[in-house]
Amino acid sequence: MMKVRKAVIPAAGLGTRMLPATKTVPKEMLPLVDKPVIQYIIEEAVDAGIEDILIVTNRAKSAMDDYFDYYPELETRLKQAGKDRELFETRRAADLANIFYVRQKETKGLGHAIWRAKRFVGDEPFAVLLGDDIMRAKKPVIGQLIEAAERHNASAVGVQYVPTDTISKYSSVKVEPLEDRVFSVSDMNEKPSPTQMLSNYAILGRYVLQPQIFDILEHMKPGYGGEIQLTDGLRVLCQQSNMVAVDFEGKRYDTGNLRGFLEATIDFSLDHPYTGKWLARFLKEKARSL
Ligand code: UTP
Repeated sequence: MMKVRKAVIPAAGLGTRMLPATKTVPKEMLPLVDKPVIQYIIEEAVDAGIEDILIVTNRAKSAMDDYFDYYPELETRLKQAGKDRELFETRRAADLANIFYVRQKETKGLGHAIWRAKRFVGDEPFAVLLGDDIMRAKKPVIGQLIEAAERHNASAVGVQYVPTDTISKYSSVKVEPLEDRVFSVSDMNEKPSPTQMLSNYAILGRYVLQPQIFDILEHMKPGYGGEIQLTDGLRVLCQQSNMVAVDFEGKRYDTGNLRGFLEATIDFSLDHPYTGKWLARFLKEKARSL
């Protein structure tokens, strides 16, 4: 199989679960400690060896391309003030990867957003990282998927076991064990009820896809919620060619909803050298008075 060299980050959703904050600030630009959410995702892809990244955006998200650009006026000021760390971090964000953008002109669903990457990707396998799903892991989660996909000459979806009463928030996959933490996938369904679910393994925001997905998505009819669903496309893909599910090591946060965002904020702040010790003390004091 060809090496996975490119990644696509769909970030064109409306972010209705985080309103009113996301009315003018894209949810991918909300700060987690001192960096916007999208930067963690780009860093994960870069840590896994990816250099070319396409972000699927829309007309309300131009703050994202500004963020990954240089800002000479600010940089000169930081230099004059001797703020070396701030200067370094500001530049580093702009130099992380070769970042490209395409707009999804109508919000027609995740499957449609991915289809917009067809020209960028061409005829090779590629990684997909959802713009609001953040992973905290020793080894980049997308790297874990890329390894399995390359080893099995397959597409790959990142999964974790979720309790039956929450499976209806995700897509469930029908799986057969293949090797440690890796399964083969033969079917899947979107937001199943507990009686419809195919297993407790849910897809969580990371994929490696073969380029055949574009032809499949192009002919896909709107599904759940009237949107072109990626899951419907993946269902066809896994029946046409090999697909594996990787029970990845790491914790996933859905920063697109308030609780997930707060959990991520607390965990990443506890890890951060500037805020970790202070926050741990603060939380302990708080907990005593609750
Ligand atoms: P979500 O299910 O989180 O939807 O999309 P959303 O619209 O972003 O947020 P809510 O539900 O209104 O709060 C999952 C992923 O698919 C992308 C989103 O940006 C997110 O990364 N997406 C979704 C698109 O790029 N385009 C779409 O039309 C829909």
